Amino acid sequence: MPEVSSLLINGCVLIISAIWIMLPAYLPNSVAAASGGGMPVDMGRCYRDGRRILGDGKTIRGFLVGVSAGILVGLCEIVVESAGIVSFIPPHSIICVFTLSIGSLLGDMVKSFFKRRMGIERGGEWILVDQYDFLAGALILTLLFDWQWIISTITIPLLIAILIITPLLHRIVNIIGYKIGVKKVPW
Ligand code: CTP
Ligand code: MG
Repeated sequence: MPEVSSLLINGCVLIISAIWIMLPAYLPNSVAAASGGGMPVDMGRCYRDGRRILGDGKTIRGFLVGVSAGILVGLCEIVVESAGIVSFIPPHSIICVFTLSIGSLLGDMVKSFFKRRMGIERGGEWILVDQYDFLAGALILTLLFDWQWIISTITIPLLIAILIITPLLHRIVNIIGYKIGVKKVPW
């Protein structure tokens, strides 16, 4: 059945492409969880509702190390792409590497701000939003600074693949992080 096998191959290519393209946005989250600690971004301050602005789960070190890891992996990907090794995947731009990484953890922080306003404590689960915050942040920031890259790279099938893969990958990585003791909760 050639149709079925070609469908499978196309599906695999789509999944691998989606992970490869979004890696600079995916990596900062895990690296922040593994490296976070120290001074929180909000410096321990509270908002006017008496709750923390962001909470102890958003630290300066986690942000900086996480973003750096995303940028570094993105730049490595560009090197690999310019060598023509992964010719079936559209290449990253320098700008998108930065906006995907920074936007990812900015989105995560914006999410935490609204979590605190809703009275959800640090580490409490906000279903779906916890899974898509960094993707939304990464795509929105990239749209603002390099919309040409978005238009030429994120096709509709790729977008659908990214939307399906992101929460699954987030869940799997968080369960691994929880098991190896990097994360306090498996979400
Ligand atoms: N982390 C960090 N700095 C960041 C983002 C994450 O130090 N900017 C670390 C924190 O140790 C955090 C962990 O990564 O606990 C997991 O991140 P996340 O699940 O986003 O934070 P939560 O602790 O769940 O906090 P929140 O409820 O605000 O999402
Ligand atoms: Mg969390």
